[in-house]
Amino acid sequence: MAPWWRHAVTYEVYVRSFADSDGDGIGDLPGITSRLPYLRDLGVDALWVTPFYTSPQHDHGYDVADYEDVDPLFGTLADADELVATAHELGVRVVVDLVPNHTSSEHEWFRAALASPPGSPERGRYLFRDGKGPDGSEPPNNWRSVFGGPAWTRLPDGQWYLHLFDSTQPDLDWRNPEVGDLFERVLRFWLDRGVDGFRVDVAHGLLKEESLRDQIVGEGEEPKSGADLESERSMVERTLRDEPMWDQPELHDVYRRWHRVLADYDGDRMTVAEAWTQTPESMARFVRADEMSQAFNFSWLLAPWSAEAFAAVIRSTLEELSEVDAAPTWVLSNHDVVRHPTRYGGGPVGLARARAATLAMLALPGSAYLYQGEELGLENVEVPEDQRQDPAWFRTHTDWRDGCRVPLPWSGDAPPYAFGPGTGQPWLPQPLDWADRTVDAQERDPGSTLAFYRAALAARRTHTLGLTEEVELLDAGASVLAFRRGELTVVLNAGADAVELPAGEVLVSSGELVGRLLPADTAVWLG
Ligand code: NOJ
Repeated sequence: MAPWWRHAVTYEVYVRSFADSDGDGIGDLPGITSRLPYLRDLGVDALWVTPFYTSPQHDHGYDVADYEDVDPLFGTLADADELVATAHELGVRVVVDLVPNHTSSEHEWFRAALASPPGSPERGRYLFRDGKGPDGSEPPNNWRSVFGGPAWTRLPDGQWYLHLFDSTQPDLDWRNPEVGDLFERVLRFWLDRGVDGFRVDVAHGLLKEESLRDQIVGEGEEPKSGADLESERSMVERTLRDEPMWDQPELHDVYRRWHRVLADYDGDRMTVAEAWTQTPESMARFVRADEMSQAFNFSWLLAPWSAEAFAAVIRSTLEELSEVDAAPTWVLSNHDVVRHPTRYGGGPVGLARARAATLAMLALPGSAYLYQGEELGLENVEVPEDQRQDPAWFRTHTDWRDGCRVPLPWSGDAPPYAFGPGTGQPWLPQPLDWADRTVDAQERDPGSTLAFYRAALAARRTHTLGLTEEVELLDAGASVLAFRRGELTVVLNAGADAVELPAGEVLVSSGELVGRLLPADTAVWLG
């Protein structure tokens, strides 16, 4: 039998913004546990919970100071155990986040490195280097941080350290065996506590080209480390960047070791790579049979609202992954990107398109990842500048991630919409017009986005389990995505005019149909 994760629907819980049990305005583990019945009723198979470990929160938990403890902001180890046990009782699996590319600058290893001289074993766990220029005052290479600015910070003693993200997130040196040993211990620590898997942060970044050479850039171009979401939208055609900081061949030895660690445990434990690779071929290398279980398929998320682009991603994904016999994944939103209704134009049209793309995705073979709040049709929020929290904002002053991280509205007609007890306001401000977006309001409305997600997930269980993993793309005109998977036919209308549906019983649709006409921005499953 195929392992559970091969066809699972996994729901991302962004811990700070899901549910707050103690009224400090920040979500926490007991908050998640108290809302697990909601997730069971939504019909998801698993949760991925973003980092809740000890952390100064400079990158909201992706800066870990102790991988084997829970930050008091989010609860205790006993709360983590309770969350896993309760989820399992409800038949929901729990995937936790692993952050192996960098530690927090408050991790005991980095503190020891700062207190030790250049060349010491303590510095050898990170990427410390001397600078360039006669007095070493220029950074060791031209790399930029994903969050903007240089990827190097200089210490008072003259040495520099590498941080592909914030300066409070020093990159580890994965060529040092101590690092691999630490993470094997961390994996076992959480596996022993019963977690079902790991979402691996920056999985394409752990090893850099050993020389740490400059990134080669074309005439007039600036060096760049991060995925540039706008230009990445044409991922399929774009020319590849020189990336000595990403996707190095030695990474795969790490993932083979982790595969062996997970194989020591029962119950199909899994890994999913957050690897912003440049092509579907390189994504496929992460999921060879003896490496990771899955990798997020970001080309699906990066595709614009276009039937042709969706078809191209489906085709290339299935082709590349069948080479390594891995199951694909599909994802449209997460805590790092603009929510998909907003990306597709916002307002009622953006929401209709988001529902349609979601419905098409849920029929595809493999597993689907949902991001909290998409089932409520939430859009990105314009967070006022003086309330921004994202470290990337402070380094670049471009609007990036706060707008998709606003705490969930559960009930009531004014903030905090029962996100936490009482009237205490959450860490990011919620819009004043979310009364009709709350879980409670949508549970009472059969036409709500929540009702649609519940119906779509139920239809997925009824109609796709056991279906072939083969997909046949059908020719249905330039603006229509149509494919067949076993007995199921899926049609998504990305054009401006309604189209006639082919024969078949309507099993579920993302919006209202007009007789046998499929309106613009709508998708349907036919059986
Ligand atoms: C990817 C995470 O999803 C993001 O939120 C974080 O800032 C970076 N990795 C760095 O850990």
